Amino acid sequence: KRITFSGIQPTGVPHLGNYLGAITNWVSLQNNKSSELVLYSIVDLHALTIQKDAKMLQKSKIEMTIILMACGIDPKKCLIFEQSKVSAHSELSWILNCITPIGWLSRMTQWKTKFQEQKNIRSIEDIDISIGLDLGLFAYPVLQAADILLYKSTHVPVGDDQVQHLELTRDIAEKFNKFYKKNVFPLPQTILVPAKRILSLKDPSKKMSKSSPFEYSRINLTDSPEEISQKIKRATTDSQKGILYSPDTRPGISNLITIYSSFTGLTIEQVVNKYKNSDSKTFKDSVTEIVVQYLQPIQKEIERLKKEEGYVKSVLEDGANKANEIAKRNLEEVYKVIGLRN
Ligand code: TYM
Repeated sequence: KRITFSGIQPTGVPHLGNYLGAITNWVSLQNNKSSELVLYSIVDLHALTIQKDAKMLQKSKIEMTIILMACGIDPKKCLIFEQSKVSAHSELSWILNCITPIGWLSRMTQWKTKFQEQKNIRSIEDIDISIGLDLGLFAYPVLQAADILLYKSTHVPVGDDQVQHLELTRDIAEKFNKFYKKNVFPLPQTILVPAKRILSLKDPSKKMSKSSPFEYSRINLTDSPEEISQKIKRATTDSQKGILYSPDTRPGISNLITIYSSFTGLTIEQVVNKYKNSDSKTFKDSVTEIVVQYLQPIQKEIERLKKEEGYVKSVLEDGANKANEIAKRNLEEVYKVIGLRN
């Protein structure tokens, strides 16, 4: 039995990293005939760790749903739903909290980076959690484990930054199964694509991220051709001649090669062969052209769906109803196993 699950936070417009690292893979996996169930969740409870403006959150959720559908996520092939509409996520999360050692969570890098950003802390070594780390941000990966395990998911398509959370999910599942001597949860596999880590255009030592304060560090799926062109022009590359794929020594240009390769379907080698004698300006122009061309139909579809808000909301309703049925059944089983029901 193959059950596919993934989630995205409604904390703004998705960027090329979200798209190439995760969403395109979601689209291909929803078409996988061997999957008995495919669920994609707008994880609004997770977003609460960052976005606390109620109006913004509401707006972002609808916008995110519209964008996912415009990218090809098809409600006929999968369930799209808001996490908070299925209360079993929070309930299972509490149960998993009770078997998750704090030591496991303290090793997670994501809360450290987010906390560092929020509090403007210079280095991770300087982190002092007594100056205001919310419990929610720290416990975030347990809720993520609950999202996945609630549906007994077996496959989870994500970007590279989520690999550690998936390892934790397997550890929690294994601990639960062993402790209660019952194989309740399968150990879910992480599914990655070659574009699993798209880098910031400003600082290619970092990943492209929704929360970076630098607008030109990322290309949003809703950016105009002019914005895309400006951002790629300003993208940090090096002064070496020629186009070469070498993520360690030439991360900026290699990142653009990955983007170009993902959009065209050409292999990295084919891209490098095509442009090896070009200068970086020529290559950047080609990358711009391909990105603009690729995003155009998606943006058109976003505009169309914006006028169909009623329909989009009904998709979310329907997704939540169906997800709730499965979630309730599985949660009931967990409750029995741990002794809260007979
Ligand atoms: P989020 O909302 O930050 O990102 C959504 C997806 O995009 C991927 N991603 C990237 N991939 C490549 N390059 C990048 N620069 C890049 N930035 C983001 C992320 O890896 C992710 O797959 N914790 C998750 C949401 C979540 C979830 C889950 C995922 C909650 N519960 C259960 C899977 C299963 C997150 O923060 O995603």
